[in-house]
Amino acid sequence: MSFLAKPVIFLLCLAPGAYLAYAVYLAFTGGENLLGPDPAQFLSLETGEWAIRLLILSLAITPLRYLFNWPVLFRFRRMIGLFAYFYVCLHLLVFLMFLLQWQWGDIGTEIAERPFITIGFAAFIILTPLAATSFNIAQRKLGRNWKRLHRLSYAASILGALHVIWIVRSSYFDAVLYGGLVALLLGYRLLRKYSKAVQQFSLLK
Ligand code: HEM
Repeated sequence: MSFLAKPVIFLLCLAPGAYLAYAVYLAFTGGENLLGPDPAQFLSLETGEWAIRLLILSLAITPLRYLFNWPVLFRFRRMIGLFAYFYVCLHLLVFLMFLLQWQWGDIGTEIAERPFITIGFAAFIILTPLAATSFNIAQRKLGRNWKRLHRLSYAASILGALHVIWIVRSSYFDAVLYGGLVALLLGYRLLRKYSKAVQQFSLLK
């Protein structure tokens, strides 16, 4: 049955995007409105939410694998990380298409003058080489540098969480949830690294 796990997770990750594509199709063909009164905002929020959820889930794989001694989880990390990037790209596409309406000249101004966009864009820039080098061949070619490069995902998650915190309007729920989870997952890594260093130091004495 374990051979089914990957395709099932693939379909689960794809489902929100497929639903949004269907909703956009209905909107363009005069069908039922599944996108609410402000379709551009709905699409922007949904794609952003899925991007950060999957980014956090990919960060959670390592702690979950160690806490529950579940090595099989590593098999899904790359796919979940790539889906996070996929939703970031959709999020950017929605921004360019529906919010900026392809006014290319405005992109620079938006990035320069709206700090939450600057931060979001920086996260996108960081995630791009990570997605491009997530395949086995790149992993082999980069050797030890691959791990170093992929540690940038921590910076991307911090920027992603800051981007959400910056947007806070009436509800703090998303900001607290995503900011808290990123802090928890990165805190766990720091603690593990620190306790390993302390252990090694005490063995040396
Ligand atoms: C590529 C650069 C990015 C741009 C231009 C961008 C733009 C935006 C905009 C304009 C909104 C507000 C939508 C609205 O309120 O109408 C938004 C919301 C959001 N973005 Fe981004 N974003 C970017 C990158 C990211 C990244 C990298 C993530 C996460 C990994 C992310 C996650 C979110 C989330 C979760 C929200 C919803 C926040 C809320 O609950 O109010 N964005 N983004």
